[in-house]
Amino acid sequence: MDPVCYGNGGDVGVKVRKAVIPAAGFGTRMLPATKAVPKEMLPILNKPCIQYIVEEAVYAGIEEILLITGRTKKAIEDHFDRSPELEFHLEQNRKASMLTEVKKISDMVDIHYVRQKTPLGLGHAILCAKSFIANEPFAVLLGDDIIQSTVPVTAQLIEEYEDPTRVLLGVQHVPQKDVSKYGIVQPLGALGTGSRVPVATVVEKPLESEAPSNLAVLGRYILPPNIFEALEKTPLGHGGELQLTDAIEVLARDGRVDAFAFTGRRHDIGNLEGWLIANLSFAMDDSKLAENILDELQKNEHIRTHLAAF
Ligand code: UTP
Repeated sequence: MDPVCYGNGGDVGVKVRKAVIPAAGFGTRMLPATKAVPKEMLPILNKPCIQYIVEEAVYAGIEEILLITGRTKKAIEDHFDRSPELEFHLEQNRKASMLTEVKKISDMVDIHYVRQKTPLGLGHAILCAKSFIANEPFAVLLGDDIIQSTVPVTAQLIEEYEDPTRVLLGVQHVPQKDVSKYGIVQPLGALGTGSRVPVATVVEKPLESEAPSNLAVLGRYILPPNIFEALEKTPLGHGGELQLTDAIEVLARDGRVDAFAFTGRRHDIGNLEGWLIANLSFAMDDSKLAENILDELQKNEHIRTHLAAF
């Protein structure tokens, strides 16, 4: 698919060709499942989370992806590689559709890998992409955030992106009690779904009483290359980690950050509740699966007892 172009009839347009997917975190909230299996490989239905994210980037016209991985993340590289033994087995057993499906995964897009030797925070993970990105704006898709939407969120953001020196943040309202889990922006104006406003400030995991709004950055960004300079000057922040939010705040102080309220249902698969809800929510999009699950939920006495007491 062609990358999306902007500007004057495509003559002076901004292309977003590259994406960075950080996937090097410890995934402690999903232990012990994530002791040997990367959390980004946890399945939503029968597909690992990271595949949804790579597909989203490909749909948005991204040509090259850099995956930030770590020591325990080899399964991610294997998933996007060819698997000759499996392909041979499927061929021998005449499982043509499975064979096509398996081959498609490795043919989707050029994926590069870099290891973040120690997970020192999201900002540090992004800094590992500096030489890959060089001097162009790029998309960031967090490896554990899946967003269900008709138009994938990265495509929505690229469509809105006009100035390669600015940051564009994908945001949505979250319940006030949850603001301390997110990067929260202070928008300069009202922000309805599908619109964009400049941002005065962005704060990482603020206390509920100090949050500038309840608009949270939810795992999707378009960043300009000058983010690297900002990251290099940013001291360690919340949790003793190098926070991407703190570097974005440096650019916000210069008036170079916008927020875009995207359309879609976001799932944080990095915690048990988010992962379970994501599975149920995706299952509802498959009519046969939905029917069977809803039927089972109604029949299952254990679940019915809990629902009755709820
Ligand atoms: P999270 O903070 O949700 O991931 O980072 P985590 O640290 O793995 O989570 P817990 O708290 O231990 O459960 C969001 C994304 O950024 C990546 C993670 O892999 C995840 O996809 N990340 C985070 C890195 O790549 N490197 C880091 O140093 C931190």
